[in-house]
Parts: sequence; C-alpha cells; structure tokens
Amino acid sequence: MSVESQTELHGEIERLRAALSEREREAASKERQLERYAADLRETFKRERERAQELRRSYRETVRALSNAVEARDAYTGKHAERVTAYGMEIARRLGDELGEMPELEFGFLLHDIGKVAIPDSILYKPGPLTDEERALMAQHPMIGAQIVRGIEFLASAVEVVRSHHERWDGGGYPDGLAAEQIPLAARVFAVADVLDALTTDRPYRPASPITVARQMITQESGTQFDPRVVEAFNSIDDATFEGIAAAIE
Ligand SMILES: [Fe+2]
Repeated sequence: MSVESQTELHGEIERLRAALSEREREAASKERQLERYAADLRETFKRERERAQELRRSYRETVRALSNAVEARDAYTGKHAERVTAYGMEIARRLGDELGEMPELEFGFLLHDIGKVAIPDSILYKPGPLTDEERALMAQHPMIGAQIVRGIEFLASAVEVVRSHHERWDGGGYPDGLAAEQIPLAARVFAVADVLDALTTDRPYRPASPITVARQMITQESGTQFDPRVVEAFNSIDDATFEGIAAAIE
C-alpha cells in the first residue's frame, strides 16, 4: 500500500471514530433526556394519585357529614349508618369481586336514609303507630333520597342503594316492588346489614338481641326477605368479627 493510501485510510478511520463518538454522545444525551422524562412522568403520576386520594378523602368526609346530619335527628339509632356501612362492606367483601372495593358502595350505605330529611318530625318521631297516610309519606323516603343524590356525579352508583334499600327478595318491598336479581346487589347486601344492626341494638320498645339470635332470624328470612347468596356470605363471617366492628365504632 502506498504512503498516500495509508494516510488516506488512516484519515478515514479517524473520521469514522469521530462520527462514532459523536453518535455515542448523542445517544447518551437522548438517554439522559428519556430518563428525565420518565422521572417527570413518575412525579406527575405520584402527584395525580395523591390528588385523587385527597379528593376521595374529602368526598368521604362530606358524605359522613351528610350522613351524620341525617342521623342527628334520630336519637335512637345513634351510629346506625356507620355500623350498617361497616357490616355491609364486610359482607360485600365475602361476595368476592362483584361489588369490589367500590367507594360508592360505602357512600350508598352511609346515605341510605338521606330521604328522611323530607319527612316531618311529627311522623319520624311519632310514638304510636302511623296512619295509612303517614305510612305512605314515610315510604317515599327512598325515592326522595334517590332524587337528592341523583344530581351528584361522584354518588352516581350510590343511588341504587338509596332507592332500593327497602326492597325484599320476594318482591314485597318498596318503592318499586322489585324481586330477586332485579334488586341491585348492593341494596340486597344492605338489607341484611340493616336488619343485623336493628336487631343487635337497643330500641325503645325492646332490648338488643345477641348476634347469634339475630343470625337465626336473618337466616330464617333467607329467600323471603333476603337474597340467599347474601345470607350465605353473611353467615361465613363469625360473631367476633361483627362484635369487633361494632366495638370499633362506639
Ligand atoms: Fe330507610
């Protein structure tokens, strides 16, 4: 090889080396840029998640405040809504993924009786039996509640529980006389939790029953008042769990 050719070849190799190291620099700089993007994305995602959690917390606080306002009128029930909610969430968990961990479920349970804000005190606290007319008015509280809640976007699926919490599996409930699977599952779960709490707390006209007795009474109504599958889920939870839930709320 001539000296000229060698020099030319050497020059070519040098150029290629220079081009290669330039490419390497570009690649390294691109990689750093990508890493920065990834870090920014992670940070944005984290902030979004925190914001969503904060929003969820304030929703929950608002719903609790609303639920407490409804309950404050009724001296006898005390923390009924909170206990029913906790019982209902426990039963819902036993039913598996169908209801999942949806927060709207909790909101629906907490607000089930919100329609009672429209029922006059004279009816709500009447010591004696209600007249037919008063009973008819009282029976409107699920519809009124559903109307109140309907316009609030984050409570959209809570409407089901509010509207259907007095339906019965055999179709004998109100306001729509729905039966069996026609009743939203969340409302079927609520019905069991509601009666459990009613039976296991003192009322002016009778003392509280132990959970074992309440369990027998609920099981007897499986297939009539209650969805058998929900009763089964309820019966898979032991007394101690319910007692623990109630004790934590008092
Ligand atoms: Fe109710």
